[in-house]
Amino acid sequence: MAKKIKRIGVLTGGGDCPGLNAAVRAIVKAGIGIYNWEVYGVETGFEGLIKKRLRQLTLEDVRGIVNKGGTILGATRRLNPFQYREGSAQQAKAQDRSHVVLQHASEAGFDALAVVGGDGTLTIAERLWRLGLPLVAIPKTIDNDLSGTDVAIGFNTAVTTAMEALDKLHSTAESHHRVMVVEVMGNKAGWIALESGLAGGADVILIPEIPFSIRKACDKILARREHGRPFSIVVVSEGARAEGAEQVYRDATRQRLGGIGLAVAAEIEKATGLETRVLVLGHLQRGGSPTAFDRGLASRLGVHALKTIAKREFGSMAAFCQGEVRTVRIRDAIAELHTVDPDGDLAATAEALGVSLGR
Ligand code: F6P
Repeated sequence: MAKKIKRIGVLTGGGDCPGLNAAVRAIVKAGIGIYNWEVYGVETGFEGLIKKRLRQLTLEDVRGIVNKGGTILGATRRLNPFQYREGSAQQAKAQDRSHVVLQHASEAGFDALAVVGGDGTLTIAERLWRLGLPLVAIPKTIDNDLSGTDVAIGFNTAVTTAMEALDKLHSTAESHHRVMVVEVMGNKAGWIALESGLAGGADVILIPEIPFSIRKACDKILARREHGRPFSIVVVSEGARAEGAEQVYRDATRQRLGGIGLAVAAEIEKATGLETRVLVLGHLQRGGSPTAFDRGLASRLGVHALKTIAKREFGSMAAFCQGEVRTVRIRDAIAELHTVDPDGDLAATAEALGVSLGR
């Protein structure tokens, strides 16, 4: 007979996003209140299991955090136990420390682990599960690029933040007759750009899934000027690229994604003669208080993950599909990225409303 579950661990992996604390809170409250389990927090993702940074979480620890951004457990993007580098030295040789994760989880008495993460974290989680670590995943990513779930924790808040920025930029763009280019996150998927652009009344939206023609984007801006609207709002995903461009924009010195907003703005100004300004929203989209939707989603996925652990359905992920919580395999969630369908309803809706997608 399978061992009775008495103690679980919870960790938040990868970049932070709004709603992580709501998920941790749900796991602690229901883990203790419904299942009578001990719940341990693992600090800074899988690093906490390598370095044994574990602490028991009580109801007191999660009081008043449902509305807080970030994660009380800490986050790091750089940690992969299969390619672990000691300290911050990028030069240090990468070593496989996955066995240490399994050993420390077992020494800590964890009967299961709840892993809240995006694509990178869940790819690691799936490998660890195959090595014998009993775990269940919860999806989070502001980019919303995980498959198997319609939506991940953090996405709705990021879209709302971007939409509010567009609302504010509208009035100043209109007063000054300027073009405002807003660069949003979205490495391989244009969900944030498209959804916030649609909600915020953008005139041009450029996403990674649709290579853009700057001429077509400018045609839209010029047509607006001809019709007495000498200002425009352009939203561009950081991972968008022009037709024929081989690479996405990266900061040359730090090799980080981003910078397309400036390039697009320069081209628009040259082609239209309109003063063009740029705003890079950056990590603003990952911060702040989660929306009601994200708090509810995180709570539902957290509670569902516990149910999945109780059933010992390890290697799976709590998902949200068509308004309901479901259980899917982690391997299906990470098999391919969930990206915008260029011929789907969302893109078609934007175009039906006169938005240029640069094609
Ligand atoms: O993966 C989510 C994401 O928001 C990407 O869109 C973005 O490129 C990345 O995080 C930036 O993360 P950081 O600067 O924290 O490494």
